[in-house]
Amino acid sequence: MTTPIDPTATPAWTELTALAADLKPDLRGWFADDPGRVERLSFELADLHVDLSKNLVDDEIVGALVRLAEQTGVAERFAAMLRGEHINTTEDRPVLHTALRRPPGSEPPLVVDGQQVDRDVQQVLDAMSAFADRVRSGEWTGVTGKPVKTVVNIGIGGSDLGPAMISAALEPFGGEIEARFVSNIDPFDLAHKTKGLDPETTLFIVASKTFTTLETLTNARLARDWLWAGLEKAGAIGPTGSGTGSKEDAVAHHFVAVSTALDKVEAFGIDPANAFGFWDWVGGRYSVCSAIGLSLVLKFGPKNFRELLAGFHTVDEHMASTPLASNVPVLMGLLNVWYTNFLGAQSHAVLPYAQQLSRFAAYLQQLTMESNGKRVRWDGSPVTTETGEIFWGEPGTNGQHAFYQLLHQGTRLIPADFIAFANPAYALEDDGRDVHGLFIANFLAQTKALAFGKTAEEVEAEGTTGALVAARTFPGNRPTTSIFAPALTPRVLGELIALYEHITFTQGVIWGINSFDQWGVELGKQLALQIAPAVEGDTAAYDSQDASTRALLDYYKSHRA
Ligand code: F6P
Repeated sequence: MTTPIDPTATPAWTELTALAADLKPDLRGWFADDPGRVERLSFELADLHVDLSKNLVDDEIVGALVRLAEQTGVAERFAAMLRGEHINTTEDRPVLHTALRRPPGSEPPLVVDGQQVDRDVQQVLDAMSAFADRVRSGEWTGVTGKPVKTVVNIGIGGSDLGPAMISAALEPFGGEIEARFVSNIDPFDLAHKTKGLDPETTLFIVASKTFTTLETLTNARLARDWLWAGLEKAGAIGPTGSGTGSKEDAVAHHFVAVSTALDKVEAFGIDPANAFGFWDWVGGRYSVCSAIGLSLVLKFGPKNFRELLAGFHTVDEHMASTPLASNVPVLMGLLNVWYTNFLGAQSHAVLPYAQQLSRFAAYLQQLTMESNGKRVRWDGSPVTTETGEIFWGEPGTNGQHAFYQLLHQGTRLIPADFIAFANPAYALEDDGRDVHGLFIANFLAQTKALAFGKTAEEVEAEGTTGALVAARTFPGNRPTTSIFAPALTPRVLGELIALYEHITFTQGVIWGINSFDQWGVELGKQLALQIAPAVEGDTAAYDSQDASTRALLDYYKSHRA
């Protein structure tokens, strides 16, 4: 195991510390004095146009940040990841989500720990495509012979967020099949998502890397009960297999699974022939390009899914081969380090100007915070600096009417990424005006206001006087990155997601973190299993709880109808 480099001991860190101490943010002045700033700090990354010019950096700071990436070995570790080295140290595994999107026939073939990775990836992709073709054409039917109309993905975390986010994001590319997503063990989720569905035309995908996750297995059993009850009511199956089909037939026609644990899939009662596998080197939050994306192949078709993968791959190639000084994910990761470690930022907003990206921030929260919310490094030693900022966001313009006030005039530094698309999914006109144009005007206005603000003199020049002047003044120098793309297509979305994956990677390497484990979710899971008997009335389990938990259990018992 290589010892992580302590970033705070690098010469670049010392340089950056001094630069931060001397920093006098002046985006107005920097733009006025430097006509080449926008060009120098704008980059084309496949279909993405990325403008970093409204960040609180100058050439000297960018130079020192790039040296920090050099001195902490970001490029070398990415190369090690691509080669299949076991950079997931605590689980002793390679990290190969990038292999999921290598095009067919890539040379030389990737072989890791004796596994023919490319061959296995393509085999599963082909199986997913063939299955999707059968379902989409109506050849695959429910137990009563009706074609599938709705696919319900049951999964949580990485087995839910990616497919759910992309399903919404690419809605205009969808065909006849509707996709729904059940994740929460709160019974409302399954009850709500199955509402109005016809069991005869519903297909469930149980998506779980481990096939041990409490929420997913509970929901899968509830879904199976819902299916059996519905089919029995319709006279399609008998309670003991005496109808036109058996319960087993119903499961065989209405349940498929996605997992690395195919033995557990079989134990649940799903035919392994109806299961799609992947491998332990795919982290949950990096798994949407694996069979975990099955719901997407069903909804959007194999061609669109391949387009999505192609988008991811383009950015993987960029990350692997572009010099650090113009490597967009590396630069964006470095900016995050700059704000987090040198300017004291605690959070980072991601603000897509596309309603279809309503789940993008939730997706990024798992990607970034489960990856980099860590206090020890990959060799078990403590981190030497702050890690893992809080990611959050909502689509514009909704956010403008909610929390942007704090972005503009609050006391906190919150770097923000603004994402927009030149062409809308739906072009509508309002009284002859292109509504998308108005939307884009808002996207442009916000980053402008955040960067350049409004001085007291400008406020006064409008006739404002007294205490109102301060209230109406905008300090500016609030950093933003603008990401613009022609349209939200499968390929562009793949590029965008891969961009954030590699931003996360860059930060993880600089901090010396293993971004690919998630031990921090274990304790809560263990305790929930210990507390469950207490909730159900077990006195010994109740007595073993702390005073606060016991009091909350008392409240629950006295209020549960
Ligand atoms: O929340 C922890 C976690 O392990 C995530 O990393 C993962 O994406 C999620 O649970 C679901 O796990 P599984 O796919 O094994 O059901």
